[in-house]
Amino acid sequence: MLYPLPCVMVSCQKPGQRPNIITVAWTGTVCSDPAMVYISVRPERYSHEILCSTGEFVINLVSEKLTGSMDYCGVKSGRDVDKFAACHLTAIPSQTVKAPSIAESPVCIECAVEQMIKLGSHDMFLARVTGVTVDEDLLDEKGAFHLNRASLTSYSHGTYLSPGKILGTFGYSVRKRNNSKRRHK
Ligand SMILES: Cc1cc2nc3c(=O)[nH]c(=O)nc-3n(C[C@H](O)[C@H](O)[C@H](O)COP(=O)(O)O)c2cc1C
Repeated sequence: MLYPLPCVMVSCQKPGQRPNIITVAWTGTVCSDPAMVYISVRPERYSHEILCSTGEFVINLVSEKLTGSMDYCGVKSGRDVDKFAACHLTAIPSQTVKAPSIAESPVCIECAVEQMIKLGSHDMFLARVTGVTVDEDLLDEKGAFHLNRASLTSYSHGTYLSPGKILGTFGYSVRKRNNSKRRHK
């Protein structure tokens, strides 16, 4: 019941085999320094074996445009279809891992597995972030990064959502209180 979540496209590949994509909602950041993330994957998924044998994957964030492909990669198995071809997506070399990135994704987070933890229905792959590539459109002329321009899709209780209205920014509750105090002096 912990929603909304990012739903991401995880790309992976065994040497000599075609690349694959699995949609994952059980994912998140678990440490800032070193940057660490996790994905939880059921052992019966085709991708599970690829993740175990290569120890590498790329988390590709999903923009509104990629939502249909993300859904497709979450209902079809790489055992039966070439998901890159079926979704007209481009597998491009990553910088730090052998798993490919998805060229059409606005942000690609390259990951090296440090631990696989068996939890029950899902196995958790705890991984170190080894590299990140971002779409140039997300950088302004000064090089500042604007992630919200990517219009990332989230997942809540079976439904895909696009970003809603802005309710505040980091620390705004404290700033607001300070301002109102000043106004009342
Ligand atoms: C929105 C969404 C989120 C999903 N999240 C997960 C997840 O966190 N872990 C998982 O094992 N499968 C998850 N799935 C299911 C897999 O993506 C799906 O079984 C996929 O076909 C597996 O692909 P593969 O057999 O090529 O590995 C999700 C599917 C969707 C549509």
